[in-house]
Amino acid sequence: GDYGGQYRPQVHYSAPQHFMSDPNGIFRDNNGTWHLYYQYNPLGLGFGNQHWGHATSKDLYHWTNQPIALGPPSKSVALFSGSAVVDKNNTSGLFPGQDNGVVAIFTLAGKDPDGGYGGPQTQALAYSHDGGFTYQLYQHNPVINSTSTNFRDPRVMAYKDHWVMVIAYSRDYTVGIFTSRNLINWTHASNFSLTGLLGAQWECPNLIHMPYYDQKGQKQDNIWTLFVNINPGGPLGGAVVQYYPGSFNGTHFEPVDSAARSIDSAKDFYAMQFFNNVGPGTDVESPVSIAWASNWQYTQLVPTAQEGWRSSMSLPREHFMTKVKGAGWKLVSRPYNLDRMVSETLVVEKNLTKEVVAVEFSGVESKAIYWEIHLTGIPDREPRSLSLNVSFVSPSTAENVRLGYVFGAVDFDLFGGDTPFFLDRGGAKGFDHTFFTQRFSVSSPHDNGTWSVSGVLDRSILEVFIDGGIETMTSTYYTKEPISVALFSLSPDLPKGMNVDLRVVGLHGV
Ligand code: FRU
Repeated sequence: GDYGGQYRPQVHYSAPQHFMSDPNGIFRDNNGTWHLYYQYNPLGLGFGNQHWGHATSKDLYHWTNQPIALGPPSKSVALFSGSAVVDKNNTSGLFPGQDNGVVAIFTLAGKDPDGGYGGPQTQALAYSHDGGFTYQLYQHNPVINSTSTNFRDPRVMAYKDHWVMVIAYSRDYTVGIFTSRNLINWTHASNFSLTGLLGAQWECPNLIHMPYYDQKGQKQDNIWTLFVNINPGGPLGGAVVQYYPGSFNGTHFEPVDSAARSIDSAKDFYAMQFFNNVGPGTDVESPVSIAWASNWQYTQLVPTAQEGWRSSMSLPREHFMTKVKGAGWKLVSRPYNLDRMVSETLVVEKNLTKEVVAVEFSGVESKAIYWEIHLTGIPDREPRSLSLNVSFVSPSTAENVRLGYVFGAVDFDLFGGDTPFFLDRGGAKGFDHTFFTQRFSVSSPHDNGTWSVSGVLDRSILEVFIDGGIETMTSTYYTKEPISVALFSLSPDLPKGMNVDLRVVGLHGV
């Protein structure tokens, strides 16, 4: 693939060409190689003809594209989303003498006579003797049969002495929990349903054992967290990911409360999946996820088609749970090991004032930057009119993508106003569509007089981590001309004792 092109992200993964959507079957193998499969149409720039594309990486940033790993076994089905596990102890019997056999379990989506996907959705298995590069279909598929047309996205994991699968009964707002000893024979154990946001469909569930650090940063017992993706019907339109902290005993999941908690407060974060073979008890202590950085509302219309590709993944993120004053449980999300991608320091400003700091970064080869802003000494009584403003600008057209924080702001609506934290992609003029909402806001109260915001700007995607990753915003944007200047400022003057640090660095590309 050609990874040039104004819109092509350099730090985020995208398929060499054609249409990509959900991450599928992601796992870390026994040698520490990360495998990313993904929903892929090898023939077109829109959804259809779904296969599993494949890429591998040693660091989750530099990817090697691999041949397509799995395709539909017949013309009457497509290969939808699913997961993969390493069957180290050969519980399946498919890998005599091997400890690196890989089992992929996914949905075969039946087509209806008009070529749509109105047929039954069944769960099928494929296995790999070469560590996940090539697969054979299991002879006795499906491993879970069904007549339902909305039963999909099995996500399998190891739990003590057995395997657990979470799977969506999409139109019933239900996650089914199945158990197995051998990955082949599955028993329905329980359902979790009708909690939090319902939207129109539930998709791509994940159940993850999460590290928990309390407000003081002390490590506490891990907490199980169930993730459910909704599309359509998210609060901002289209897709959203929600999660439920709770307890899990190997067969049943019980949420701690009935709140709906969503992960991202912009519109390009969906079908989030966690890597298998990672997390508490492995040599990568934090769960690591990747999501599809797009939204079904407009993914098939975005102008990256000019460059022969559509959709990138989110950054790889590491996670833990915490508790936040007022809001209770929160998922924390941070870019995974981004440090190793830093190519050059552009600005380190120890004391940002109302002067505008302009960072011209057209000299950074990738045109991708990371920036972070740390505030300390914020007075208890917030300076009402004070605002922090960040603007990414295309100098030739004056197009921009902006974000900022307005101190002491009380009212906001989800789609904007400049309060209290906001992101606005309306100044980018390369794509116009009703559902391509321009402005997003989220409340981000701060504690102890400190607050921070950081992010990665990568050609056509901006990923923002607010207050250490307690909130995130992932937003694609399409300018007519490339962005190459970042402006940082505060207005009006800072109150006494308040300090703002800024760091901007360039990032290595692919
Ligand atoms: C989520 C989803 C899944 C399905 C896949 C098909 O984006 O709708 O439920 O398996 O996409 O591509």
